[in-house]
Amino acid sequence: MDQYRDFAFVYDELMDDVDYEGWVDYIEKIIEKENAKVKNILELACGTGNITIPLAKKNYDIAGIDISDEMLNVARSKAEKENIELVLLEQDISELDFDVTNLDCVLCACDGFNYITYDEDLINIFSKTHELLKEEGIFIFDISSFYKLSTVLGDNMYGENRENISYMWQNYFDDEQNLVEMELTFFVADENGKYDKHEEVHLQRAYTEDEIIDMLEEAGFSDVKVYGDFTFDAPEEDSERIFFVCRK
Ligand SMILES: C[S@@+](CC[C@H](N)C(=O)[O-])C[C@H]1O[C@@H](n2cnc3c(N)ncnc32)[C@H](O)[C@@H]1O
Repeated sequence: MDQYRDFAFVYDELMDDVDYEGWVDYIEKIIEKENAKVKNILELACGTGNITIPLAKKNYDIAGIDISDEMLNVARSKAEKENIELVLLEQDISELDFDVTNLDCVLCACDGFNYITYDEDLINIFSKTHELLKEEGIFIFDISSFYKLSTVLGDNMYGENRENISYMWQNYFDDEQNLVEMELTFFVADENGKYDKHEEVHLQRAYTEDEIIDMLEEAGFSDVKVYGDFTFDAPEEDSERIFFVCRK
């Protein structure tokens, strides 16, 4: 039951309430606020390209990496439809291997790093990112907050009955390991209205802000800025998305 295999084909539909345009604007505002010169971007855990494609359209040279070939295939076909050339690589970012250095920006959007469940793997990603960035290069990413994973998603169950997709999403939070296991069961209708059942288990780790800052510092970053929920203010106790910004 690999993560983001069958789910890749319903991901965009189920994320249709996410304001990706606003997300890309916020990323550009961060770049502007930091006065960073950004032309090339490496995007980690790029998924179906919801951030990658709009950034490519804004003339950034962007390469995306994701562990799921299915997610990348969705990104490839969307890019093809829009005549956009993208470099997309299938890779586990825990073993990040990218041979272009001196990058202006490394990005990871929409809680990709929560899927990295071991400290040493996340530190390894941060160290590799540090190595790949140019001097003054900028590293921007967000995570789902500890509060969101432990309390909002926590042990809750969600469900929705849409026209062609119905899903149940049952979560279990392990407060010893700070891991949330998400059991996703979804039913997708074909053109004859016959439903196929699909199941996936996703595992995300809840990190505190301090844990992330310590790991960034261990990897060589300093002066880490932390923002809550698409603002430029420090996160509140109930912020659900925490943004981290740091320079090499
Ligand atoms: C919530 S999706 C975010 C996708 C995209 N960034 C977006 O904004 O829509 C998380 C993504 O992380 C990817 N992912 C999870 N673990 C990964 C790993 N170890 N290496 C690379 N990608 C990973 C998944 O395949 C999935 O595409």
